[in-house]
Amino acid sequence: MPRRYLVQTFGCQMNVHDSRRIEEVLEADGYVPAEEPALADVIVVNTCSVREKAEHKLMSLLGRYRPLKEERPKLLLAVAGCVAQQEGERLLERANHVDVVIGPDNIPELSALLRDADGGAPPVARTVFDDDAPEFLVATPRRPVEGVARPEVTAFVTTMKGCDERCTYCIVPYTRGSERYRPAAEMVAEVKSLVAGGVREITLLGQTVNSWSDPSEAKDRRADSRFAELLYRIADDVPDLARLRYTSPHPRHVTSALVLAHRELDVLPAHVHLPVQSGSDRLLKRMLRRYSREEYIERARLLLGARPGFTLSTDIIVGFPGETDEDFELTLSLVREVGFVAAFGFKYSPRPYTPALRLGDDVPEAVKSERLQRLFEVVEAQQGRHLAGLVGTRTRVLVEGPSRSGKGRFSGRSARHEIVHFDADGFDPTGAILEVEIVEAHRHSLLGVLVPGSADRPLEPRKVRPTSPPASPVRLPIAR
Ligand code: SAH
Ligand code: SF4
Ligand code: F3S
Repeated sequence: MPRRYLVQTFGCQMNVHDSRRIEEVLEADGYVPAEEPALADVIVVNTCSVREKAEHKLMSLLGRYRPLKEERPKLLLAVAGCVAQQEGERLLERANHVDVVIGPDNIPELSALLRDADGGAPPVARTVFDDDAPEFLVATPRRPVEGVARPEVTAFVTTMKGCDERCTYCIVPYTRGSERYRPAAEMVAEVKSLVAGGVREITLLGQTVNSWSDPSEAKDRRADSRFAELLYRIADDVPDLARLRYTSPHPRHVTSALVLAHRELDVLPAHVHLPVQSGSDRLLKRMLRRYSREEYIERARLLLGARPGFTLSTDIIVGFPGETDEDFELTLSLVREVGFVAAFGFKYSPRPYTPALRLGDDVPEAVKSERLQRLFEVVEAQQGRHLAGLVGTRTRVLVEGPSRSGKGRFSGRSARHEIVHFDADGFDPTGAILEVEIVEAHRHSLLGVLVPGSADRPLEPRKVRPTSPPASPVRLPIAR
């Protein structure tokens, strides 16, 4: 009987992506998926430590696995991801029923470590960054299984690892290490192979995805990001790719070439998630975000102007040390001024190793909750107005699969990333791009009807880039 694995994932898309690589490593070793923890021979928890709550969740989950492990001592328990990297051997002391602790750069070693553990080796922590020879695990396209699984419509491709920004609140530079960039040719090959396997949309991933630069260039020549050139290259080399997204860009690496790419490449979305964190210059400085409120707004305007109907979403931290009512009001006014159609809001959470620790955590919990609530109200109202304004318009939807609501309904995303539900009249349009007329706006999604004939109409080929290669990426004026 084959051994069975279960991978549980917390945290960001990078962790979701890493979890798939963990599954591939285990499957290559003969493991098959288990439906629930009680049926698994190996449980891997892929963890996040960006906020304290995420770490608490892990400890309580590990607590729940203790009786399972006592019942079945052969069950192997592994902890991967950012808490693993951050805690290393300490995690083996904090949870003595864990067999393997493995950092994000050590995933290929997982099978061997599990085999050793199965053979009776003592618990082990392996958390070494691959700074000298960065390795990027290539995704294996998931083949649709006849009658069981649908083809994968959308997939992630890693552009870089780590983060050199060191925002004062953030643990990621410590859990993911310093920036390492992936060669363009490797990414183009991966995108090609995914598209050949049926994938229609690629999301390029990186903590500051738009700081990407060619790793073959000497380090001192890498002052400017080459990210826009990468986008042009993928668009040119993979003409069958329907959509190319990226997350998360850092505002200080928004170059004029990137704005131009959004204007010229119709494979790019009319939407970008551009984290701002705060609208107060005083706080942006304390956070070491390396841009001012005005600089952010200027870049946001350039992106919003790149194409009609362009939208932005963002991340915001409330209750950062020293945040006053005035600072928070500045954040709300920036949210209104830029007109974000969505935002993730987070209460500041002190994290180990981060410089902000010494600033204390002086905004009371009740004030953080109230500010978060007010932020949500402003964002929800903007989102509501935006979605309502789309009723009566037509949009091209990349169909991702059946809606959770069932009833023959399917859902997908517009080019701006809005979720659109529609009825498919008895056929399965997963993976197709269909024209849908929006008839209703819900709180966070749209309801549409298929435009007659759009299902049969072949997709017009994507326009290939109309101009010569981009000029060298002019850095928009941010002095730092
Ligand atoms: N690299 C990405 C995001 C990384 S973490 C970027 O810079 O855009 C995702 C979000 O978590 C951040 O944008 C920030 O809003 C939030 N975050 C990070 N550290 C946090 C902390 N200590 N407390 C609260 N929120 C935090
Ligand atoms: Fe964290 Fe800042 Fe890096 Fe994003 S850019 S991962 S918030 S340090
Ligand atoms: Fe969390 Fe690590 Fe991602 S801390 S947000 S899983 S990079």
